[in-house]
Amino acid sequence: MKAIFVNGSPRKNKNTADMLQSAMRGAQEMGAECEMVHLYDIDFKGCKSCFACKLKNSKCNGVCALKDDLRPVLERCREADVIVLGSPVYYSYPTGELRSFMERLCFPVGTYLYENGKHITLRNKVIPTAMIFTMNCPEDYMKQINYPTLLEENTKVMADIFGYSETLYACNTYQFNDYSRYDFNLFSEEDKRRYRDEHFPTDLQNAYALGQRLVEKAHEA
Ligand SMILES: Cc1cc2nc3c(=O)[nH]c(=O)nc-3n(C[C@H](O)[C@H](O)[C@H](O)COP(=O)(O)O)c2cc1C
Repeated sequence: MKAIFVNGSPRKNKNTADMLQSAMRGAQEMGAECEMVHLYDIDFKGCKSCFACKLKNSKCNGVCALKDDLRPVLERCREADVIVLGSPVYYSYPTGELRSFMERLCFPVGTYLYENGKHITLRNKVIPTAMIFTMNCPEDYMKQINYPTLLEENTKVMADIFGYSETLYACNTYQFNDYSRYDFNLFSEEDKRRYRDEHFPTDLQNAYALGQRLVEKAHEA
């Protein structure tokens, strides 16, 4: 049982990475062999629309044809039983890197073929997946401005391609190590710290349970 965790934040030890690490510990607890990938360490671009993966008798077999530093990661994703993607919210969406990664991950597994009204994909079983989003917005405000609708479009893509996906949010995140060095009056450091101390441990627990749940689902698949 292999699980892969993909960090779409440029920061390797902040909110998104912490959530992914916690999900990874949950998956490890269930016996999965786990790997964390930091996208910002990898030199890659999004889909170049070469359509090599859509050719008749294509040799791609669900892995993007582009030969760059991302390819080994995509090959390992092809072997994975569980895939978890994490991203901070940048201007209401996942980071550009995470979106570029999704293009390269999802498009080769999907096809332009339909059978009995169903989209045919090049996977032989359900791969449980999840999207973890962290954001500065408080929970009530992010609902008010429709973040779930926008962000869960990504989860829908993952569910369509891999057969199962879910979304986990961590809101009102603590952004800076030392707030005294930054200019801001939109929020107070004290409120942010209190919220982090009261809520982030629960967010991490939810991520841990998510990791456990996805491995359980992969065993059932
Ligand atoms: C370029 C940029 C754009 C951002 N846009 C938003 C946004 O639209 N909504 C929001 O809630 N937070 C926004 N944030 C805040 C981050 O989503 C938030 O701090 C996140 O938890 C950071 O994740 P990290 O700690 O893993 O880097 C933005 C941050 C940056 C750097």
